[in-house]
This record gives sequence, structure tokens and C-alpha cells, in this order.
Amino acid sequence: MDHFNYQNGELFCEDLAVADVLSEVGSPLYLYSRATLVGHYRGIRDAFAELDPIVCYSIKSCGNVNLLRTLIHEGAGMDVVSGGELYRAGLAGVDMKKVVYAGVGKTDPEIVQALNAGIGWFNIESEAEFENIARLAGDRGVVANAALRINPDVDPETAHAKTTTGKKESKFGVDIDRGRRFFETYGHNPHLRLSALHLHIGSPVYRAEPYVRAITKAMELIDELRAKGHEINAIDIGGGYGADYVERQSVGYDEYAAAIVPLLKPFKVGGGTVILEPGRTVAANAGVLLTRVQYVKRGGSKKFVIVDSGMHHLIRPTLYEAFHFIWPTRVDPGHVPPQRERDLSSQVEGLERVDVVGPICETGDYLALDRMLPPVERGDALCVFTAGAYGMVMASNYNTMPRPAEVLVEGDMWRVIRRRETYEDLVALER
Ligand code: LLP
Repeated sequence: MDHFNYQNGELFCEDLAVADVLSEVGSPLYLYSRATLVGHYRGIRDAFAELDPIVCYSIKSCGNVNLLRTLIHEGAGMDVVSGGELYRAGLAGVDMKKVVYAGVGKTDPEIVQALNAGIGWFNIESEAEFENIARLAGDRGVVANAALRINPDVDPETAHAKTTTGKKESKFGVDIDRGRRFFETYGHNPHLRLSALHLHIGSPVYRAEPYVRAITKAMELIDELRAKGHEINAIDIGGGYGADYVERQSVGYDEYAAAIVPLLKPFKVGGGTVILEPGRTVAANAGVLLTRVQYVKRGGSKKFVIVDSGMHHLIRPTLYEAFHFIWPTRVDPGHVPPQRERDLSSQVEGLERVDVVGPICETGDYLALDRMLPPVERGDALCVFTAGAYGMVMASNYNTMPRPAEVLVEGDMWRVIRRRETYEDLVALER
């Protein structure tokens, strides 16, 4: 699952006690395990090896340029959704031919930036967008590749309502009927070669079955389009593969691949390119958020553990009711968590029910509600697990709070890959 484990009551990331790093760098802190990041990337790449896919890591999940560089070194391409992400990808040294660019609202400057960079594919979300990109490519006398984002109307089953995307009513892509007409209208544009399909059904998708339904529909459409004379030479099946917020929450890479690979094998054998866009499954378990207890307080029947991080650093609990396992970084031998589960009170004695809340002036500022934890006191460090994806990238400066520093651990070494923001940083752009 990952390289975060307790040894004699002390939480280690790879070969380092995380509390030691926290003491040195200060709190709060995002801490990443290189071995986990690379292990997950290789895990998904190898599971799908028969398709020899381009694995375009989804930058939006966790975008520190040092982490991107690590993945690019492993051969990764990048999935970007903005000019800013494209800039990051370039800075990290990606092969632009392995970049896919999605998003419903690409602006003209962003499109020109991507045309100049020579990216692999524009993932197209609407007719108006296609016409605009084709025009901008034509003006510059360049030719770019496009994949039409198809909305297969498949329920991803487990994604939160705010992260479901593959249903007919979603703002993303076009439905299959419209997809047919799309190719009739735009299939032979000389500047924007429409020769691929793109899918992304939601995030996270914990089982393989929704992918099977979506890909089956896409392959039927490809057969139809080819019969009408359209060349379709790539399919991008998106991201969404699960991560383990609790033990073994998602099926393994092999199980996803066992269901998906046979559906795409004939396409691959026929010379087609397969693209994957995993984000969360690579980054989530590779990162934790470390935070220090400031105060412990009672309010009515409730006990609050007030920490120096919160919704401004990890918004997932309050935005999606997401569960993140939280546990102190140093515990008595009897309090070592046997696994990461929602409630360990039947397995570990002496836990108490608390809300873990932050310093922000909002009731919604919490990391956990009604959580059974070992007793903690002021100064203790807590670890919020599986926070590598959609953690730091969604952090804000609300209440003029600096965002956490980021540290990358490799074996028994660590280094700061993003320094903590200063108050000067926070007002630097204000005139
Ligand atoms: N491709 C496309 C077109 C996407 O929209 C996304 C994520 C991905 C790939 C990567 O999905 P992943 O493999 O990371 O699941 N902030 C939410 C998740 C939003 C996902 C947005 N799109 C969360 O914290 O759960």
C-alpha cells in the first residue's frame, strides 16, 4: 500500500521517523515517500504493460515539480488541465508528445501555449472548443491532434456527487450520439486531426466494472466511426483508479487491468495508442499531512483536538465528507494501529471520541469528526494519511495562513521540495 509504518510505536516514512522531520522543518508539513510514488507509478504501468500505454500522470492531483520530475524520469507523460499545469510539466522536462490537455474552458492564450509546445493531444469537450482550437492552429499553420471526450453515461458507483463526471448530465465531453455527429462535422479538419477518443468517468472508481461498461461503449463507437472511414488511432481511458484511504479499499492494479486490457488489446494490436491518466492512485498514499496539536478542549459532550492545520490545507473532509485516517506519530505500544480503518475501537483499547479541528473561523473547518483516537495532548504530532492527492494542490491561504512546506523522503534522506510560505509571500502580489 505505502511506505508509512509504525516501528515500536514510532511512525516511519521509509527509513525516517516522521516526527524527527517535523521537528526540524516545523508544522504543518506535507511529507511524501518517493518509494511509494514510484512504486505506484510502476504498479499501474506494469499492470497495463500488454497495452504499452502512455501513462499521463494527472498533475492536478499533486503537482510539485520535483515529484513530476521523478515520474518523468520513470517515463511518465502528463495530463494537464491548464496553462499553469502545462508550464509545470515543461519545467519538469516532460516529453511534450506525451502530454494530453483536458478541460472544458481552455482559453486562447492557453491553447496557443499548448500549440507552441507541440503537445500530444487536445482533449476536446465541445463543438465550440473544437472550432476555436482549429482556428488558432490554422492561423499559425500548425497541425495538432485531438481526442473527443465522450461521456459514456456510466455511473462510477462510488465517487462523491462532486467528482462524478461520466453521466449524461455532466458538463464534461459530449454524449455518444453527439459524438457521431461530431466526427461527421469535424472529422476531416486539416489543422486539428480528430483521431482519438477520451473518457474519464469519475474519481475515485474503486472497481473495474464501470470502466468495462464505459470502454465497451467507446469501442463500439470506434468500430462505427472506422466503418464510416474515420481514422481512430488513440484512446485515452482517463483516470479515477482508487487509493487506499482505508486498508484495501480499491481493487489492485492487476484487477483493473485484468478487466480492461482484454477490451483494448485488439485496438492495440491494430496499431492504436492507449493512454491512461492516473492521479490519485499514484499520489494519494505517497503523501501525508503532519500537524501538531495546539489545544485540547471540551465543549458540551464533545472533545476537540485543535491542530495547526485544517480545511485550508486539506479541504477533502469538509468538501466531500472524505475520510482520512488520522493517528498520532508516536504512540504507546498498545496504541499502534493494526490497520487503517474508520473505527479501531473494537481492536485498540483506550481510545476516545474526538473532533480533529483546525484554526480557521468556520464550523466546517475539520479534518475528522467523531473519530476514535488514542489520548493526545498539546504538542503531539498527528499524521493525516493518504493526503498526497488533492491535498496541497487544493490548499489555500484562507485566514492569511501560509500553506505547509513539502518534504520528499527517499530512504533515510529527506529534503524540502517547497519551502513554507512567509507572511511576505502572502502579500507579495498586492499593490
Ligand atoms: N483525467 C481527467 C480528465 C480528470 O478530470 C481527472 C480528475 C483525472 C484524470 C485524474 O483522476 P484521478 O486518477 O486522480 O482520480 N478533488 C477531488 C478529485 C477531483 C478529480 C478531478 N478530475 C478529490 O479530492 O477527490
